[in-house]
Amino acid sequence: MTSSYTYEDCKATADWLMAQTDVRPTVGIVCGSGLGGLADMLKDQVAFNYKDIPNFPQSTVHGHAGRLVFGTLKGRPCVCMQGRFHLYEGYPIQKITLPIRIFKLLGVETVMLTNAAGGLNQDFKVGDIMILKDHLNMPGFAGNNPLAGPNDERFGVRFPCMSDAYDRELQQLAMDVGQELGYGDFLKEGVYCVLGGPSFETIAECRMLHKLGADAVGMSTVHEVIIARHCGMRVFALSLITNQAVMDYESEEKANHEEVLQTGKQRAEQLERLVSTMVTRIEHN
Ligand code: 6GU
Repeated sequence: MTSSYTYEDCKATADWLMAQTDVRPTVGIVCGSGLGGLADMLKDQVAFNYKDIPNFPQSTVHGHAGRLVFGTLKGRPCVCMQGRFHLYEGYPIQKITLPIRIFKLLGVETVMLTNAAGGLNQDFKVGDIMILKDHLNMPGFAGNNPLAGPNDERFGVRFPCMSDAYDRELQQLAMDVGQELGYGDFLKEGVYCVLGGPSFETIAECRMLHKLGADAVGMSTVHEVIIARHCGMRVFALSLITNQAVMDYESEEKANHEEVLQTGKQRAEQLERLVSTMVTRIEHN
């Protein structure tokens, strides 16, 4: 299995896609578990199964469709990943983030990511939507960073800054749009912590992550954010809090994937409306 892709590999895939569709997206969206409905909102769709796209990995998780969908949201050209790739599927980390570089080569300027996450912040409730203001990259601490390996300057610099990873204006826009849509009661902001998965956290791990400053925990997004920032795209990300991470030994609760998908279904429409309304207000040069 190829563990690294060259600029030319990415370009070949982007060129292949651009030969099949006239849509030239400026916004790229990645849909999390149970949140793929966003892609269905696109008009004049041109969709590709991942298995048909050169160099693309395939999605193996229940709840992740595995399609790349081009189209327009109220006239704005978009591309949407309906289903993403995770470390726990066993792919090399560079493979997981390949689609983000393809976004860049398609002309995308803003990347919007959604995910399902467990709540660590005790003020969060199941069904809350958290706007990411920062992240903790736990796999990165152990050397598992998607930028590890040779750096190609055509994408970005060797040592990219991450203190401004999450675009402040887009966070504010999300708050404003959320208020207008009447989502104020369940719209929060916080720090997302990524772990490798696929096992959920132990109680001790949840306590540790909470002490370290994480408000929510999940298994995605951060790798994509790093790759997107490296090549200069603006980033916005949302977590749907699908369950409360278990923090005490008296609790009878157990994290499970069905609960994650169930909560996704209930809140998905509102989350989709939030993102799609934001898309219609993003200015590009
Ligand atoms: Cl509780 N943990 C992790 N790692 N990912 C999740 C989750 C919890 N809930 C949804 N995704």
